Amino acid sequence: MNYSELNTSPRILMGPGPSDMHPRVYKALSTQMIGHLDPEFVSIMDEVKEMVQATFQTKNNLSFVVSAPGSAGMETCLVNLIEPGDEVLICQHGVFGGRMADIAKRAGATVHMVQQEWGKPIDPQDVKAALENCDPKLVAIVHAETSTGVLQPLEEISKLVHDKEALFVVDAVTSYCGIDLRVDDWGIDAIYTGTQKCLSAPPGLSPVSFSERAVEVLDARTTPVQSWFLDLSLVKNYWAGAKRAYHHTAPISQIYGIREAYRLVLEEGLEARFKRHQETHEHLRDGLEALGFSYLVDKEYRLPMLNAVYLPEGVEELPIRKKLLNEYNIEVGGGLGAFAGKLWRIGLMGHSCDKNHVNMLLSAIKEIL
Ligand SMILES: Cc1ncc(COP(=O)(O)O)c(C=O)c1O
Repeated sequence: MNYSELNTSPRILMGPGPSDMHPRVYKALSTQMIGHLDPEFVSIMDEVKEMVQATFQTKNNLSFVVSAPGSAGMETCLVNLIEPGDEVLICQHGVFGGRMADIAKRAGATVHMVQQEWGKPIDPQDVKAALENCDPKLVAIVHAETSTGVLQPLEEISKLVHDKEALFVVDAVTSYCGIDLRVDDWGIDAIYTGTQKCLSAPPGLSPVSFSERAVEVLDARTTPVQSWFLDLSLVKNYWAGAKRAYHHTAPISQIYGIREAYRLVLEEGLEARFKRHQETHEHLRDGLEALGFSYLVDKEYRLPMLNAVYLPEGVEELPIRKKLLNEYNIEVGGGLGAFAGKLWRIGLMGHSCDKNHVNMLLSAIKEIL
């Protein structure tokens, strides 16, 4: 067999992730391989851990990067904190809350749910009412629902969860590095994210962080964690132990890549980055509305990095989305779950969050329509 050299099309990534990567990240990915226990690589891991803390706005010691994508970060948080028979409360307002419930069930938890219509945030009053009828060890919620474009306010719910002495677990896969997210100030006990959205690093890693309260719960476990690979009692000595102990071979090149992506975030500054996401979103919104698109989510709860929009009346979504990809090299996302075939999800994430990208997309849509 004669396989040709890899030669992908020059896509512009404006879907729900992955996003475009900065040339500096590509360059870092091609850095020479060294051993994962080489003292130089250990220093790189230490730096990456500090960068995880800085971007989560936390001092949590147990902050590191899981060697697998966002779903593994989700699983890390849940399977380590849950023991069979525990009660948990999961809030669902889109696809990813459902995934958390599935994992919690598989970990042996009794799962209680707070449901909200997709396209709206969870109402703290519904969480309050649910907490009066159960005694969960943890409450889990998605900060930025990628399937709907909803921004979920967290602080009020965090307070309710702590009043009940439960742990607060947050999915920040899409919000991370694109909108304010304060792990310590907002009382988040366990959090996971991904790399391929507003951080603009390659997919396949999941930064996570655990509060001291969460670590106490981990230390008090009486049953082993069902997953060997994700068991924090083993992994933490690799990332955070006084002496590095082999657990698995870290994805070295991926760590080079995430380190460079973090350097870019920290050079820009979190506040400036959040502002860029908001302003670019407003630019896109004005252009889309002028073309007859409309938003699924009320203005107050819209994510800047994930724009869930209905197409103008009578326009079929798939042929236009295909044309954008095939003729203009621009990727936008279709609807997920209940919204499949009904709307678009336009991503403005990290390096893809750029006014020129928006202008290009709007011109292309205009031409096609
Ligand atoms: C909110 C949310 N949670 C979890 C995930 C899962 O992440 P991954 O696809 O990296 O496993 C995603 C992926 O899009 C997501 O958007």
